[in-house]
Amino acid sequence: MPSTAVIAPDQLRLSVAPMMDWTDTHCRVFHRLLAPHARLYTEMVHANAVIHGDRGRLLALDPVEHPVALQLGGSEPELLARAARLGAEAGFDEINLNCGCPSDRVQAGRFGACLMREPTLVAASVAAMVEACDVPVTVKCRLGVDDDHDYGRFRAFIDEVAAGGCRMFVVHARNAWLQGLSPKENREVPPLRYDWAYRLKRERPDLQVLVNGGIATAEEATAHLQHVEGAMLGRAAYHTPYLLHRLDVAWFGGELRSRAELLRALQPYVEAQLASGVFLKHITRHLLGLFAGERGGRAFRQVLSEGAHRPGADWSLVERALAVTESFAAPTAPSLPQASG
Ligand SMILES: Cc1cc2nc3c(=O)[nH]c(=O)nc-3n(C[C@H](O)[C@H](O)[C@H](O)COP(=O)(O)O)c2cc1C
Repeated sequence: MPSTAVIAPDQLRLSVAPMMDWTDTHCRVFHRLLAPHARLYTEMVHANAVIHGDRGRLLALDPVEHPVALQLGGSEPELLARAARLGAEAGFDEINLNCGCPSDRVQAGRFGACLMREPTLVAASVAAMVEACDVPVTVKCRLGVDDDHDYGRFRAFIDEVAAGGCRMFVVHARNAWLQGLSPKENREVPPLRYDWAYRLKRERPDLQVLVNGGIATAEEATAHLQHVEGAMLGRAAYHTPYLLHRLDVAWFGGELRSRAELLRALQPYVEAQLASGVFLKHITRHLLGLFAGERGGRAFRQVLSEGAHRPGADWSLVERALAVTESFAAPTAPSLPQASG
């Protein structure tokens, strides 16, 4: 069985989760600026959409985003293989298969989290994707579905998929409940069990394991590195993006830059996008949390979100938001624990 290429460990320590409607190319460019060493993920794109849809838009990718993974949804090996090849040709560094999304739409299409019940199909899909492209093929999964709390079944899923050629697993460390919970509740209600991901890493040391789910602080993220290759942050990265910068500096070194400095570094990108017809609001919606928790953070958010919808909104709005925010005295960021691995 062909095996997918191994990803360099220092590229796995810090990553930003795939998030539909959030981690588009503008968001990823912003996150890259904050965290030069983070691994970034697209929103999930269905294999059919990659093959038949508006590929230019769906696979839009800025050169600064690397390393960046395309996340695919689907369950037909042949289609996934074609989509994986197209993704690799478009420049993505990794193709990730979604085995964790619990939405009704996804269940109706028989992909996402319900694939946790079909390890043979997932293994066949991974094998077809590995065959079709020359970048690593990885899987993002849950611990199980519904009330299945059998660690042995979880590990058997991983083993079978690994035999299909997958070397790296992102473990969203809770079950998906396919009945009665919304996708949002499915990110909050089923209890987290990080110990399953740690145990998996202990028992299968040749596999690379990332932990995801509920990581909200730098301390929590750092603690996971004692046990697995990396910490993947979703909502915390999006809502409090400066955390990404603090983690990147703490784990990889470099100077801590101020929020304002980081924001201004985005100006050339924003100007270029505006010149090519993109509306400011499509970029600034990802920036709203930059000053979250800081004095002036609410004003920053308010000025940007109210002004970005107005016709002709341009970079001067961002400067205005910054000026309002800077009129509040900003406290300094606390220091962070160092990563040990
Ligand atoms: C708005 C939103 C959209 C999401 N879309 C996806 C997706 O497309 N693919 C996926 O695998 N997970 C998706 N997720 C789940 C996240 O990748 C992640 O597994 C989950 O939010 C738990 O991590 P966190 O607690 O750090 O947010 C989404 C989460 C959110 C909040």
